[in-house]
Amino acid sequence: MSETENINLVRLNELETKNEQAMLGGGETRIEKHKTGGRLTARERLDILLDPGSFVELDRFVHHRCTNFGMEKSHIDGDGVVTGYGRINGKLVFVYSQDFTVYGGSMSRTQATKICKIMDLAVKNGAPVIGLNDSGGARIQEGVESLAGYGDIFVRNTMSSGIVPQITAIMGPSAGGAVYSPSITDFIFMVKESSYMFVTGPDVIKTVTHEEVTKEDLGGASTHSSKSGVAHFAAEDDKHCLLMIRELLNFLPGNNLDDPPVLATTDRPDRIVDELNTFIPDNSKKPYDVVELIKFIVDEGYFLEVHKHYATNVVVGFARFNGRPVGIVANQPQVLAGCLNIDASKKGARFIRFCDAFNIPIVSLVDVPGFLPGTEQEWQGIITHGAKLLYAYAEATVPKITLITRKAYGGAYIVMGSKHLRSDVNLAYPTAEIAVMGAEGAVNVVFRNEVKKASNPEAERARLTKEYEEKFNNPYRAAELGYIDEVIEPAMTRKRIVDALEMLKNKKDVNPQKKHGNIPL
Ligand code: HXC
Repeated sequence: MSETENINLVRLNELETKNEQAMLGGGETRIEKHKTGGRLTARERLDILLDPGSFVELDRFVHHRCTNFGMEKSHIDGDGVVTGYGRINGKLVFVYSQDFTVYGGSMSRTQATKICKIMDLAVKNGAPVIGLNDSGGARIQEGVESLAGYGDIFVRNTMSSGIVPQITAIMGPSAGGAVYSPSITDFIFMVKESSYMFVTGPDVIKTVTHEEVTKEDLGGASTHSSKSGVAHFAAEDDKHCLLMIRELLNFLPGNNLDDPPVLATTDRPDRIVDELNTFIPDNSKKPYDVVELIKFIVDEGYFLEVHKHYATNVVVGFARFNGRPVGIVANQPQVLAGCLNIDASKKGARFIRFCDAFNIPIVSLVDVPGFLPGTEQEWQGIITHGAKLLYAYAEATVPKITLITRKAYGGAYIVMGSKHLRSDVNLAYPTAEIAVMGAEGAVNVVFRNEVKKASNPEAERARLTKEYEEKFNNPYRAAELGYIDEVIEPAMTRKRIVDALEMLKNKKDVNPQKKHGNIPL
């Protein structure tokens, strides 16, 4: 063996030893502690998230540069975050995964620099960023340096918004200002019972407001995926969370200039759905489950619902028509009769803006009696929040297809993807009722005096209500005006939506040049 080869081997051994050392993170004892309760390590998480063998790590040997409180004597390779790139179903993604076994995954200046590096690469190469968060927050020993690191990440989150999809999974603690990077990203996943997010924790709350609350109740996965809407998905455990992220990625393009991925399907594009001809109940006050309707029409009945447990009077999520991804926005007649309220408006608006940013056509299914009345809604600003939904629909330039199945009353008719908000194809079932308001309400306002004066006021009210229903509770007035392009047989829904998407495949539409609009936040 020559001298050169010997040196090579020595160097190789050294590299191997260093790699093995780095793989251990905070050491076996901390790993063991971390894994109680079924949590996975930062590296195990990446193994599940990414296609096998696709992960390429960057900055494995990076160390922090802190010299406060004896930190100069303690260095762990990677400094509490594993970063790099890999593939999900063959598509490039950039990832970071915080390692709680290393200084509690806390954010150091160095850790932030590592995360910023992959965020910059993601934008330059047009690929999504996925962050797996598990961190005690700012590295306490570093003071303002770690805060500056957060600032650098926030700026990148903001600048990347609408350029590449950004996804965060909260798989441990996320407290204080650390919550704000996830909240700028497009989708937040949380793991039940092992993750939490809050700006101030239970102890501070108790001191300030005397409220007593557990971490889980305050900011666990169930709370944020149902009450606050901060989280879009709540997973049963780490593995479930990572597999759900893979599922979501299937619908998304790598960046705002790409088209979303088209997948082959065996579901016929012209499949007739006979069940739909009798799906809408005879009694227009009777609810039905719009998710059932969605599953009848989309490819293989597969619907990935987003925000499933939050503002359930509106349903949003991803599905495919003839292999092509769409975002679906639908009123849910089963909840609050499908009325729009503050939470539903915010949920719908954010989803629509995501779809619009990433070239995903929007299919809206409308059955909406109006905005939810009441002082609570008015005082909390339904005017401003409802306008978000309107704004999002109006500014979206992706293909927009709207189907009115039943009620489309008043302002809510306009808001929910009407022709007047630049929708491309507007369809209606024969059961559609497009009017300023429901017949009873209309008669009470317009014919108040006639009803009062009649010899039999109740009979007169009933007669006028019937007359109003016959005149307006149908899709034909709107169709006469071209606000509805076609009144369709419900059995043909899938075919008609596929036809419309095919026709709109090359749609080009632009908004006026400006710095940015001022959506009513
Ligand atoms: C440095 C930290 C740390 C931190 C945890 N550790 N958080 N080190 N900075 N922020 C270390 C611990 O010292 C410990 O080290 C190891 O990580 C594991 O922590 P434990 O406390 O043993 O774990 P656990 O009991 O599971 O509790 C987890 C925890 C707790 C709830 C997150 O560690 C905690 O309260 N940490 C502090 C949280 C915090 O106040 N962060 C700052 C928030 S302000 P050893 O060596 O013993 O294993 C903030 C501002 C961001 O983040 C602003 C952005 C704009």
